[in-house]
Amino acid sequence: MEFRDLKAQYQRYKAEIDTAVAQVMENGVFIGGPEVKRLEQRLAEYVGVRHCVSCANGTEAMTLLMMAWDIGPGDAVFVPDFTFFSTGEVVTFRGATPIFVDVEWGTFNMDPKKLEKALQKVLDEGTLKPKVIIPVDLFGLPANYPLILEIARKYNLRVLEDAAQGFGGRIDGKMAGSFGDAATTSFFPAKPLGCYGDGGAIFTDDDALAVLIRSLKVHGKGEDKYDNVRVGVNSRLDAIQAAILNIKLTAFIHHELEDVNRIAEKYHFALSGFVETPQIPEGYMSSYAQYTIKFKNKVERDAVKSDLAAEGIPSMIYYVKPMHRQGAFCEGKYDDQDFEVTNHLCDTVLSLPMHPYLEEEDINNTTNVLKSTLKSFRKRGRENIDE
Ligand SMILES: Cc1ncc(COP(=O)(O)O)c(C=O)c1O
Repeated sequence: MEFRDLKAQYQRYKAEIDTAVAQVMENGVFIGGPEVKRLEQRLAEYVGVRHCVSCANGTEAMTLLMMAWDIGPGDAVFVPDFTFFSTGEVVTFRGATPIFVDVEWGTFNMDPKKLEKALQKVLDEGTLKPKVIIPVDLFGLPANYPLILEIARKYNLRVLEDAAQGFGGRIDGKMAGSFGDAATTSFFPAKPLGCYGDGGAIFTDDDALAVLIRSLKVHGKGEDKYDNVRVGVNSRLDAIQAAILNIKLTAFIHHELEDVNRIAEKYHFALSGFVETPQIPEGYMSSYAQYTIKFKNKVERDAVKSDLAAEGIPSMIYYVKPMHRQGAFCEGKYDDQDFEVTNHLCDTVLSLPMHPYLEEEDINNTTNVLKSTLKSFRKRGRENIDE
């Protein structure tokens, strides 16, 4: 069984993908060109924003925004403590200071109350200038934008939605990628919409920002790439990846998003009462980049993980370590007690195989092994107490 079965997806769309890749070879346009343009237009339309600018990966998408907003030393950027490293990395990379914010137990996403508390603390200390909030749509579920955007407005901060895992998610019909001043996504192969290499995109309604990003991503180009009006980077999505993404986007819209939600329901039905299954708040929809459950404690989680592995069932721990404990951020003075929820999540979460091509039999095998391990584990625990 695969954790995310990209081979099954390829087999289903092999003829179309092979033809599209061959077409790019025939055309001989490998950077930019019609496939990239078509993809950007389709993505902007799907997400419901004026601009989509493709780039090399999800990390650079965020870095480009940090550059465009001139974020640097002395600036504070608020980032969830429970996320992939790159959400904080892009802040430190610019010389700014990431301020980690604990998350909510139920949704795994940035806790708006703790965000405001962290913001107030930075303002009281007076050494850093709060500039940006980067909420993450973790595991496919959009963060609490109604509350986060209210806080951003109150303190006059920009919001960068990190929708690397969130593509396809929504709140009351409003799509992930359309919240805040700008949003980013990743087309890393295992993401809800993934290509066959690296890729990323920026979404925004801000016309001037889109023009600036288009310049920054091609060496700060002006009239053309040999007219350089600022220092930028080289961050482009290539035509072969765009051609593949154009086919995968159609599959994603037609059935894949519905399929992962249907699979999540099956998991939920089988596992409720045994472990904590993902909570999707009223009006929210997840694109299930991951199906992540919570156990009572680390010992139980680790026992299930190893029993699943013994049966050939892959599972992953996203994430083993909170951001505030990453060595790369060790210069920050973080109080471990400010991150109670994240610390606990790192010890108790487990992500199960999840993708649109997961078979009924695989779901049953996974949930059966998990439940039988838990039953015997808990029975043993009770016997020890009785003794
Ligand atoms: C939450 C989050 N942000 C950012 C990224 C970075 O994306 P990329 O790998 O395309 O640079 C990832 C990728 O794993 C991610 O999960």
